[in-house]
Formats: sequence, structure tokens, C-alpha cells
Amino acid sequence: MKSTVNLAKKTLINNRRSKYTLPTNTKLYPAQWNWDSAFIALGYSNFNLKYSFQEIETLLSGQWDDGMIPHILFHIRDTNYTPNYKAWNCGNKVSSSGITQPPIIVSVLRLIFERQKFSKKEIKKYSSFILKIEKYLEWFIRFRDPKKTGLISILHPWESGYDNSPLWDKPMSKIKIDGNLSYKRKDNLIVKESQRPLKIDYDRYVTIKNHLRRMNYDPKKLYNKSKFNVVDVGFNSLFLKALKDLDFLLGCIGKRSFLLKKYIILNESKLIKLFNSKKMKFKNKDIKNNTLIEIPSITNFFMLFADLNNNLINRNLIKSLKIYYKNEKYLFPSINSKHKSFEEERYWRGPVWINCNWIIYQGLKNKDKNLAKIIRKKTINLVEKKKFREYYSCKSGLGMGANNFSWSAALYLDFKLNRS
Ligand code: DGY
Repeated sequence: MKSTVNLAKKTLINNRRSKYTLPTNTKLYPAQWNWDSAFIALGYSNFNLKYSFQEIETLLSGQWDDGMIPHILFHIRDTNYTPNYKAWNCGNKVSSSGITQPPIIVSVLRLIFERQKFSKKEIKKYSSFILKIEKYLEWFIRFRDPKKTGLISILHPWESGYDNSPLWDKPMSKIKIDGNLSYKRKDNLIVKESQRPLKIDYDRYVTIKNHLRRMNYDPKKLYNKSKFNVVDVGFNSLFLKALKDLDFLLGCIGKRSFLLKKYIILNESKLIKLFNSKKMKFKNKDIKNNTLIEIPSITNFFMLFADLNNNLINRNLIKSLKIYYKNEKYLFPSINSKHKSFEEERYWRGPVWINCNWIIYQGLKNKDKNLAKIIRKKTINLVEKKKFREYYSCKSGLGMGANNFSWSAALYLDFKLNRS
């Protein structure tokens, strides 16, 4: 449908500010978000390479000296969002949050380079991007796995990007809410309360954030001291894919990193252990409380995206995925709809997300072409019918959350205009 393609391009352009793009043009997210920006850059690469590279360049401009790329960059000192730049009170050249998000930017960059068939010389021109990204991934290895277990921790649910997932219910339930919290939510004035996180969850998000702030966001201290420390299958899968893609990109500029190569092998062997092929179950680890988390979340299937060098596991993952979405009209629910934590409408507790579909589609392309084709078709149909919403009901297809959502538009373009 040509008109939806044009509408998607227009949506991105309308959400574009100076050299970066908002997740939506409503007031819900008035800044640049890390993984949103990566998906947006991919969307632009289908029709405006200049905007695509500017999006990436602006995101990288917020990198901290230690290598971290924050999850939010507040280019404009807007106080309409909670917690805003004052509440975080940090940043390097740009005011930012003090935590990160999945490094999907690496995989996006590789896809752009491969699809557009850049020459080695042209890639060299962008080698500063690749080197910044190398520093970013090294930061994870250094500070989020200081004991070199082979698995990366996240220290706030917001670092996953799937902020309000039932994956975090157990570790979150252990967090004692600060007594003197003073913050005012704005999100639930813009989107229906039934589609946003509960107050108790926000109280805990802010409690964890305030504690990180009290520690001056010192990465050396946070791994042991944070109130939240979880090893998540989805996050580690995105990380492993990022490592593999960075290894490729470094090769393009004539560089090699033994640290990365070593960690790829370690990370892959440990990630595989988080999937029990016999029981077809995934386990995440709550490092802080030394317990396991077993929630049927679509993000567990990001393991397909990690391109594990193990056909048996990949086949079992696909078998398990087919059971996961069986009987669902719209794909994929973020939580298996038969699970007790499933909520049809609430943020990350059940609704369909276009970025999850895209990640799984990318993982299936070289493993099950037929299934990949089905996912692509169903995603395109859903977006053409309901347009660019933040998320959708897996039962009725109803669009929910923000309108004019950038990554839904960007990834629609990618699905529609690209088959690689
Ligand atoms: C929000 O405000 O819901 C954001 O997703 C947090 O990163």
C-alpha cells in the first residue's frame, strides 16, 4: 500500500527535530531514546541516508567518557517528561539519563552498511561510529559483567526497553519504595491509565533511579550496589548479536578485538544454558536475589536473533515459538496470553510490539524462511490496518499507547521496502 509507505515517511519527518527524532510527536517521550533511535535510523536508511546517519551521529554524541550510551538524551531541557533531565542530573556533552538500553544500534549499522553496499573506503569514513560503538560494548563487558561470568546484567527495568514486563515482577517486588518520593507522572495524563504501568511500579522505577543517582552513576560500584540486577535472555541475545555485528564492522576497517572475540564465545555458551531444550523453557537470573525468573515473554525468543551456532537449539526455539503464538490472531503478544501475568492492554504485559516482530523476523530469515514470511506479512497487515501506534492488542488488533509512533513507522518501512 503506497499511501501507508508515504504516511510512514511523513510520520518520521514530522517527529524529527534538529538531527534526531522523537519516539512520538505527542508529549509522551519528548527526547531521544537509544533503541528507538536505532530503529528510526534503520527506517530512514530506506529513503534518506543523510537523516539515518544524522540520527546515529546524534545518538553517539551523548556517549559518556567511560563508553556508555545513555537510554535517553535530553537535547532540549524539557520538563514535561518524568523523570526529566533535572531528576537524572547527569550526562556528558548532552544531558541524559544515567542508564543504558539494548545496543541494537550496532546491528542496525551493520545492516545499513551491508544493504547499501558501501565500499571499504566509505565504511572507513564512518569508522568513528564503529570505534565509539566498540567502546560502548567494552563498557558492558567491563562494568556489567565484572566477574566475567559471560552474561551481562541490567540494573534497571528501563535498561531492557521492555520496561514494565512481568519478567521484572519478582525482583521489583523486593524493592522497598523510598519513603520520601516526590515526583509527578505525566504519562498517564496522555495515555489511558489502563495502558500504562501502575503507580507501585513507577514508585519502584524512581526508587531505583534515585539510588543510582546517589551513587553518582559510578559504574564500578553499581553492579554490586544497585537495587536491581538481572541477567535477561532477551537483553543478552541482543548483546551477543551486537558483538557479532561489531566484530564484522571492525573487520571492515581493518581492526580486530580479541577481547570481543573471546567474549562472543563465552557469552554464546552461557546464553545457550538459559534455554532448556527438553522442557522448552527459558530462565532469567535475578542476580540481586539469587533466584530464577521464568516468564513466557516474547523477548526470550530474541535468542533467534543472536544467530546461535547450534542448529538443534535453533530448531527447538522455533518449535517453542510456534506453540507460544498458537491461536493468536495478531502476532506476537509480548507475554503468552495464557500466562497469569498477561494483560491485553498494559504496556509490555501482553500487547504486540512492532520492534519485537522485527527482531524475531530478522532471526528467522536464515532459519525458517516460511515462518519469516508469515511474520512479515502479518506485521505489515496489522500496521496498514491500524497505523503507527506504540502497541496493539493481540486479540483485536486495537492500537494503543502513543499515536504516530516512530519505530512502528520506521520498521513498517523496513518490512515493506526490504527483504534483507
Ligand atoms: C517510559 O517513560 O515509559 C520510558 O519507556 C522509560 O524509558
